[in-house]
Amino acid sequence: MFYGDFSQGKGKEFQQFLKKLQVMFGRVYAQDNLITLQRTVGFLQDKKFNDAFNQYVNTAQEKSLAWRLHTLTWAAKICRDIPGDFVECGVYHGFSLAVVAAYIDFENVDKTLYLYDTFEGIPEEYNSENRSNAVYQKEIAEDKDAIYKQVQQKFAKYHNVKIVRGFVPNTFQEACPERIAFLHLDMNSSKSEIAALEVLFDKVTPGGMIVFDDYGWSGYVKQKIAEDAFMQERGHDILELPTGQGLLIKK
Ligand SMILES: C[S@@+](CC[C@H](N)C(=O)[O-])C[C@H]1O[C@@H](n2cnc3c(N)ncnc32)[C@H](O)[C@@H]1O
Repeated sequence: MFYGDFSQGKGKEFQQFLKKLQVMFGRVYAQDNLITLQRTVGFLQDKKFNDAFNQYVNTAQEKSLAWRLHTLTWAAKICRDIPGDFVECGVYHGFSLAVVAAYIDFENVDKTLYLYDTFEGIPEEYNSENRSNAVYQKEIAEDKDAIYKQVQQKFAKYHNVKIVRGFVPNTFQEACPERIAFLHLDMNSSKSEIAALEVLFDKVTPGGMIVFDDYGWSGYVKQKIAEDAFMQERGHDILELPTGQGLLIKK
């Protein structure tokens, strides 16, 4: 059994390597730079997960994120019963939180989901790692509101989702929950994420969770270094997951 898309591999040699693994080990999962052998990958048998994921998945890149989405939907299901609201910093098209919201029927949850983004890319003064904003600029070249409008449309059916447009952390002054049960940090910038944590960390309820999207990825190591130092000062530790995400449960 093979879960993955051979065409997403790094050319013919890599595909042959994956095929050899499949012959040797039987069950191979290969997606999102993660290869596992003989794992159950049980979330792929979860109908509710598949329905939520397939409702929003549009691109091969989004399709590759199934295991990361499993982490998020698992955390959201637990945090649904923890006092506080849900927050995502770094929303882009809203793919991840759209899947999460569908998975836990967020319209019936007595909480608000706050979605923070510029919807125009990483602000210059927060682009600590000088990441390219080309992908965002291309999308908003003709209509500055293009990404924002897509997200508005995606969450229109929810009475309890608040989309907050502008720079993190400035926009926290406009709208910010008092207590947080679930926080997803995905801004691809250590400066943005630390600025968010400075305001939001103390609001996270004990038992609440923070998922760091880029934490274990070698290309994002500055985020890991900054976030480890931040948590060490506060007596907390982040769990590095095989997906490249980081997970923290607030004490
Ligand atoms: C990787 S994308 C987020 C992906 C998204 N979580 C998903 O599920 O597809 C990173 C986003 O962070 C946003 N961003 C980065 N720094 C920011 C800041 N300081 N304030 C607001 N948005 C920021 C960018 O505009 C971009 O949309």
